Amino acid sequence: MGGRNPPSIIAVDGPAASGKSTLGRRLADALGYLFFDTGVMYRAVTWIALERETDLGDEPAITRLAQTAQIDIRPPSKNDGRACDVVIDGRDLTWEVRGRKVDANVSVVSAYAGVRKALSEQQRRIGLRGKVVMVGRDIGTIVLPEADLKIYLDAQAQERARRRYDEILARGGHADFDEILEKVNERDRIDSTRAVAPLRPAPDAIILDSDHMNAEQVFEHVMELCR
Ligand code: CDP
Repeated sequence: MGGRNPPSIIAVDGPAASGKSTLGRRLADALGYLFFDTGVMYRAVTWIALERETDLGDEPAITRLAQTAQIDIRPPSKNDGRACDVVIDGRDLTWEVRGRKVDANVSVVSAYAGVRKALSEQQRRIGLRGKVVMVGRDIGTIVLPEADLKIYLDAQAQERARRRYDEILARGGHADFDEILEKVNERDRIDSTRAVAPLRPAPDAIILDSDHMNAEQVFEHVMELCR
């Protein structure tokens, strides 16, 4: 007799740089599921708006962008640390959407109701197919409230900033720790106080405080929950 099947829809939410993507990716690999990082879509819309010099305060214009943008998220084509390819209007912009300028503006864009509606409908459609690990801010609360397992991955801001700092250095980039900490705090503030789909744990989420856990321990812990 086999054990029970692992949960089919897994939602991972939490604040900036808490390790959601690292966890989500490893879980998806281990279970043979699709890994879907929803933050990439908000980042892509922000990147397009910046490139086209659309006024970020113009909600209707940004919403139209979100409704019409050709954002493709595909399996990784290169082995350079990416979890997926982000292709916008046919261009590979995987690392561009992780840039500083996008970081500084994405929370304004993602607070718009119309933007959220356009993107979360696509996310929900993909998630409902099952065998998926979906990562974001509102997956357990809004996008897939029926998820079989909901994880809310948290850590102190200092610790999260340190992880993001190490990640940038590991990629060969330059970073200023204090600036990262400030930006992480600012993004969390906007994400958790916005009117639509604010960052918060779903009532049935398992809250994981990862301050004193490394990526491996977090992964092992969640795999245990899946079994
Ligand atoms: O990787 P990191 O935690 O820094 O950020 P991300 O997951 O790529 O998300 C970037 C931004 O997109 C967040 O700060 C939110 O403003 C927004 N976001 C959101 O509103 N809802 C989601 N489901 C995912 C991201």
